[in-house]
Amino acid sequence: MYGNAYIEPDAKPVATIDEDPEKLAEFEARIARGEKIEPDDWMPAEYRRQVLRMIEQHAHSEIIGALPEGTWITRAPTLRRKLALIAKVQDEVGHGHLLYSAAETLGKTREAMINDLINGKSKYSNIFNYPAKSWADIAVIGFLVDAGAIVNQLANAKGSYGPYCRALERICYEESFHLKQGYDAFVALAVGTPAQRAMLQDALNRWWFPPMMHFFGPPDTISVHTEKLMRWKVKMARNEEMRQDFIEQYVPKIWELGMTLPDPALKRNEDGTWEYTQPDWDEFFRVINGDGPCNKERLAVRRYAEENGRWVREAMMNTAMKRMVPYA
Ligand SMILES: [Fe+2]
Ligand SMILES: [Fe+2]
Repeated sequence: MYGNAYIEPDAKPVATIDEDPEKLAEFEARIARGEKIEPDDWMPAEYRRQVLRMIEQHAHSEIIGALPEGTWITRAPTLRRKLALIAKVQDEVGHGHLLYSAAETLGKTREAMINDLINGKSKYSNIFNYPAKSWADIAVIGFLVDAGAIVNQLANAKGSYGPYCRALERICYEESFHLKQGYDAFVALAVGTPAQRAMLQDALNRWWFPPMMHFFGPPDTISVHTEKLMRWKVKMARNEEMRQDFIEQYVPKIWELGMTLPDPALKRNEDGTWEYTQPDWDEFFRVINGDGPCNKERLAVRRYAEENGRWVREAMMNTAMKRMVPYA
C-alpha cells in the first residue's frame, strides 16, 4: 500500500560516490523541469539506491498488507461484503506485482527482493504488524489505512522515477475504491446497533493510537540528506505534512458519525494545523526492527507461501521456457 510511510533507521546515504558533476547537473536540471527519469537514463548511485528501497518497501507493504484483511474473507458478515473484500485483497496483491516490476527496472530481481523480505532484511509498513481482531478492524483498515495510503501515494505519483509514477497512477484509482468500501463498512457499523458501535469504537481506538499516528513516520529531521531526496523528487512531502493532511481530511468524517478518537489533545488550531499527542516513537522503531505484535506471524505466512508455491513457479517457468524453443 504505502511509499514513504516507513523509515529505516539506517536510511542514511551510502559513502558518497563522486558522481560526474556534469551528468549530475543535467540529471538535477531534468528533474527540476519536471521530466521523468527512465530505467536506461543516467542516474546517481544514491538515487538508484533510494528509489529502489522505496519501491521495494512499498511492494512488500502491499503483499504483507493483504494478510490481516485476507484472514477476514471467510468471516465477512454478508456475501456483498465478502465479494468487496476479496476484490480489495486481490487488488493489493496486484499492486505488489506492479511495484516489484517497477523495482526490477533498477536492477534487483524479484527473487532477491522476496528473499530479503522473508529473511527480515527488508522493511515494510509497520501498520500491518498489528492484528485485525474483529470485523470492525476491517472497516477501519479499509477506511483509514487506505486513506493514509492515498495521501502518501498521490504525493509519490508526482515523483521523478517514471516506472514508479506510472504504477502509482493505476494503484491510486484502485485505492479510491478501497477507501469507499472501507468507509461504507465503517458507516454501516457506526449507524448500527449499540454492540456494532462498541465494536467499531474499540477497533478505532486500537488502530488510531499508535498505528495510524505512526503511519507517516516521525517528523523529519531537516537534514542535507532529506533536502536532497526532496530535490530529486524521491521524497515528495514531509512526514508531518502528510500526517496533517490526513488528519484534516479524515478526523471530521469520524467525528461527524459520533465516534471518538483516543487522544484528548486532538484539536484543530485556528491556523488550520492540528495538535495531537505524540505517539511512542521508540515503539515505532521497535516494530520496524521486527518486534511488533504480528511481525513473526506475517513473515511466517510469506515464507510458507514462498516455499509451498515454489513448484508452481518452477512448473510455469519450465513451460514458458519450452514454448520459447522454436519448432524443430
Ligand atoms: Fe494497495
Ligand atoms: Fe488499498
